[in-house]
Amino acid sequence: LSACAADTETTTTESGVNLVQEGTLTVCTHLPYKPFQFTQGDEIVGFDVDIANLAAETIEDGVELRVVDVPWETITTGEALNTGKCDLAQGGMTITDERAAVMDFTDPYFEATQALLTKTGSGYADLESLAGKKIGVQEGTTGEIYVNENAPEDAKIVSFEDLALLQAAVKTGQVEAGVNDNGVLYDYAKENPDTEVTAEFDTGEQYGMSVKKDGNDELLNVFNEALEKAESDGTYEEIYKKWFGE
Ligand code: ARG
Repeated sequence: LSACAADTETTTTESGVNLVQEGTLTVCTHLPYKPFQFTQGDEIVGFDVDIANLAAETIEDGVELRVVDVPWETITTGEALNTGKCDLAQGGMTITDERAAVMDFTDPYFEATQALLTKTGSGYADLESLAGKKIGVQEGTTGEIYVNENAPEDAKIVSFEDLALLQAAVKTGQVEAGVNDNGVLYDYAKENPDTEVTAEFDTGEQYGMSVKKDGNDELLNVFNEALEKAESDGTYEEIYKKWFGE
């Protein structure tokens, strides 16, 4: 038996944006992915949160942004959107063909590439040097795909449920290296100088947020327009500097 997603209730604003909860833009993400989304005190903050808020601010006269933490897999399969849990999905999420088949992406708002995190001074600066060693990845990510396709055959690929577990495994030496997006690894290495980023792999990725497949063109438009405006009036740059420095 296959589960058929029940039709979910939404409210529609005057401008035609569907919202699962009236007066609120509900965003699903997978924590932690610092500096894109992470917990600070009892708040979820980060670059992605600020970008999503650009859209929330322009719906009606501004609706509240609510960020919900869900398993990564429910984001990439479209489940979180299809079951009416949220209006928008985010998470430093790379736009891929496979994902675009099950959800509709906004315009790209950030560029990324895969990178290698190791203990400082360990000398591993490419995947070839990790023959026979352990390489950590995050489950269900483009980094996992990249390592599966490019690691030496006898490397042991160890999969972690979230970014924090992967980074900690590198720091404690449970794995010799970890592969994930450059932005999050540089951020971690800056705060943990016993780790360093020793390589970038030119995967040329772009982050997008997404809405339910064929389900919310108006929200896509609102987001894309808000993004374009932020890029031209300096707001995007301000948000960038806030989370990544000068
Ligand atoms: N950019 C990569 C991907 O889309 C990794 C994203 C992981 N995001 C997260 N919130 N844990 O597959």
